Amino acid sequence: MAFALELKDRFASEYVDPKQKEAIGKESGLALQKLLNGTSPGSEFLGWVRLPQNKNQAELQKIQSVASKIRAQSETVVVVGIGGSYLGARAVIDSSKSYFSSPKIGSPEIIYAGHQLDARYHSELLKYLEGREFSVNVVSKSGTTTEPALALRLLWDLAKKKYGNAAKERIVATTDGSKGALLQMSKELGFETFTIPDNVGGRYSVLTPVGLFPIAAAGVDIFSFWEGFQEAADALLSDTSPETNLACLYATYRNCFYRSGKKLEVMASYTPSLHTLAEWWKQLFGESEGKQGLGIFPASVDLTTDLHSMGQYLQEGERNIFETVLYPKQSKEEIRIPKDPDDLDGLNFLAGKTMSEVNEQALLGTLVAHSEGKVPCLEILFSDNGPKSLGQLMYFFELACGISGNVLGVNPFDQPGVEAYKKNMFALLGKPGFENLRETLKKKGV
Ligand code: PA5
Repeated sequence: MAFALELKDRFASEYVDPKQKEAIGKESGLALQKLLNGTSPGSEFLGWVRLPQNKNQAELQKIQSVASKIRAQSETVVVVGIGGSYLGARAVIDSSKSYFSSPKIGSPEIIYAGHQLDARYHSELLKYLEGREFSVNVVSKSGTTTEPALALRLLWDLAKKKYGNAAKERIVATTDGSKGALLQMSKELGFETFTIPDNVGGRYSVLTPVGLFPIAAAGVDIFSFWEGFQEAADALLSDTSPETNLACLYATYRNCFYRSGKKLEVMASYTPSLHTLAEWWKQLFGESEGKQGLGIFPASVDLTTDLHSMGQYLQEGERNIFETVLYPKQSKEEIRIPKDPDDLDGLNFLAGKTMSEVNEQALLGTLVAHSEGKVPCLEILFSDNGPKSLGQLMYFFELACGISGNVLGVNPFDQPGVEAYKKNMFALLGKPGFENLRETLKKKGV
């Protein structure tokens, strides 16, 4: 399969001034060049750009082999991480896996922890795992992020009680190669480790062991996922024309809309299997662009579900929105609507049609309604929900995000704003070194 993504603008182009599109297109082209020649802001984090074209076969084999061992001993694998350290893997796993399945040893379920601090969640998680064969993949580049570190402490405690000396066989750590508490802990306790490259930041790291190990542990084909990334990189890095390079085009449209007052982008998909992909996309774009008082606010909806909630706002609310619709051209499974002799529900007009045909007409009807309601709608089409196709899509978004952030005028590879809550939380919890801030917060009455 070659790079098979399509970007359609049939419900968006009328909202864009061609001259502005041409001018911003030139900016997108220059931004792509900066990513290619390493002159983009945040240039120390550009390792992801050519990563797909530099496959480390030995590392992939090791990931596959450790994942096979973990699968063979687990009914449940807990992926512990937050932000870019778990969303990419979860997006691919949720897109590929069956909605309804019964996990068993050899074919484990993947569940998550360390992505929030809810007491009930963690308490129920520990009780759930007590009666199950489990393993853990903890992912933290810094190795010091509070949420995953705390979850690992709880899970390690349980693993020791349950498995004794063999507990270390249950933990795989993915972290920095030279520093951080997680690396230190892994060395001392004898955990299997994978290294996150220095020049790849969290939200661009799904093609490193950060994403690849959990994806492999879920039984999804990482070689095929890699191939998808590579096909996208080959296509998108060889065509530097902003008129035809799809990542440039998407970045151009986003910035055209933004400059004309459309400050919110709503990612819409018509399959619940892409719900987490939209979460990953929100994190990628939100953390990359939302800084210096700038940036499109990324939101998402699951359709047709949310047509009965956010649909009202999308149709008639404030007109500061544009929409990007994501849909696979093929569904993994199909179902044909049966004829009912009594037709009590009046649905015989649909008999013989497939469920996908109905979904597609809902999509088309919504595109017409929203665009006529002054919401420009872009469409991104990709082959299917499989790992190769997802790889193509994710690389496309990463590249478009790097381009779009550059056009916006920010560094798309840092996240200085994330520190603000952490400092306050540490001060309030009495972490050594935060005494002055604690006093300041007390004086403010916090
Ligand atoms: O994209 C990012 O850089 C962030 O979302 C990080 O992935 C997140 O903060 C987790 O960081 P770490 O992997 O250091 O625990």
